[in-house]
Amino acid sequence: MNINTSSEKLLEISLDCLVISVFENELAEDKLFSEVDRKLDGIFKTLVKEKEITGSKGELTLVHTYDKIKPKRILVVGLGSQVSFTSTVASKISADAIRYIKRKNFSTIGTVIHGSARYKDLTKELCISLVEGMILGLYSFDKHPQKTNDAQDKEPFNIIIGGFQKANKKTIEEAINYAKITSEATIFARDLVNQPANLMTPTLLDKESELLATRVSLEYKTFDKNEMETLKMGALLGVSKGSHEEPKFITLKYMGNPEFPDKIVGLIGKGITFDSGGISIKPAANMSAMKGDMGGAAAVIASIGAVAQLGIKINVMALIPATENLPGGSATKPGDVLTALNGKTIEVENTDAEGRLILADAISYANQLHLSPLIDIATLTGAIGVALGSVSMGLFSNDDTLSAELIASSESTGEKMWRMPLWDEYKDQNKSTVADIKNTGGRQAGSITAAQFLHEFVEETKWAHLDIASVFMSSKTNGIYSKGATGQPVRTIIKLLSMDEHSLFS
Ligand code: BES
Ligand code: MN
Ligand code: ZN
Repeated sequence: MNINTSSEKLLEISLDCLVISVFENELAEDKLFSEVDRKLDGIFKTLVKEKEITGSKGELTLVHTYDKIKPKRILVVGLGSQVSFTSTVASKISADAIRYIKRKNFSTIGTVIHGSARYKDLTKELCISLVEGMILGLYSFDKHPQKTNDAQDKEPFNIIIGGFQKANKKTIEEAINYAKITSEATIFARDLVNQPANLMTPTLLDKESELLATRVSLEYKTFDKNEMETLKMGALLGVSKGSHEEPKFITLKYMGNPEFPDKIVGLIGKGITFDSGGISIKPAANMSAMKGDMGGAAAVIASIGAVAQLGIKINVMALIPATENLPGGSATKPGDVLTALNGKTIEVENTDAEGRLILADAISYANQLHLSPLIDIATLTGAIGVALGSVSMGLFSNDDTLSAELIASSESTGEKMWRMPLWDEYKDQNKSTVADIKNTGGRQAGSITAAQFLHEFVEETKWAHLDIASVFMSSKTNGIYSKGATGQPVRTIIKLLSMDEHSLFS
């Protein structure tokens, strides 16, 4: 997809299709809508009278122009009411429109920045939504080796963004650049998650990380099994014991603010490349979805890559404990006791609660490096989906400011998160009689006890845990999401780290 801007009048550019948009109940006030209407001899007035164009959210109306203006067709997109209009609505509408255009095989497209005529101050944010919507809306996973014959046509789209004030050109170009990077990062994360587990082993995930590091200039270092043994990562090693695939502890570092080399944000991503449950094996139905149990790792890798590409003035380090969780002759068994990197002993009551084990070592390692704040991202518990459905991920944090900043970032990307409690009372469920802690807390409040387990390994730092098990996959194609991996919360993490005014280090 080529995306360019034009300060020429959109009605004077030869296009297969020009996309314009209108708010419900504000049809008459829209300048461009009225101008096109005049040039097309009042066709919109008729369509409005006939209630074919109402401006309701997501409504698409295609009108031919019969050479009365340069664009061959106009696609009128409904934005819904102004009250419910957000950047999330803007990106969804943009995705819906581009999918429609793809079905119609139009290739040279002009578009306005939806909503920006009315909300001029939000032009940058709305342009980001427009571009993210177009790029993500066209995503489909095309790296399946099984489908070599299904060669996908590379989109021939030429997009021209116009209809803005000349003074805004620079802002808009910055927004386009930002949105291209965030969307490509989201797609990168989606591809990693959608890839079958035999083609995304810890070793291959490590290779992808190394390639990314070279491409965007990140410091890269991965610990192999021997080095993990030296470091005493007993929890991660314990999970890896059932598999013949070697575990990897991948680290990536970006120093965008070398003046403050001690201030480094830590991102930790759960990298279980396949979760069979181990000896506490999962039921067969839908087990294949567990090829995506490295969704947290994918999000973290993609986010740090994007932060580097954007050249953000911040230091970030990504830690990715990666392993398979399989049953095998030497697998960790229920009842076994493991010793984590920080010396804490863990009774493994259920080998399927493996995510918290590998994260325990990663958090302990982050403590040694004094990374702060710490944000971990993990497909940690089925219970988070029971609590929040597929609408939102769970946020757990020991810090109100960090929570507020994450939530504010997520509101602008639409990657919803809801803060869950971390009250001390929930800690009791993790008590073990044979070790310092056990890795399951029973049926009740499963996501909270999992978060409390991680909390036990966090030292004096601001910390947030995002349980993305509820949102890492989408069951259907809708708006910016296609069936399969969602790439959440990549855009939110990039947004958080690129905020001008944040208090991440205070
Ligand atoms: N990877 C799973 C959680 C998961 C479930 C992710 C569904 C995505 C979709 C995790 O390792 C797991 O198995 N958790 C157990 C914990 C339990 C044994 C305490 C779960 O949620 O059942
Ligand atoms: Mn599991
Ligand atoms: Zn898991």
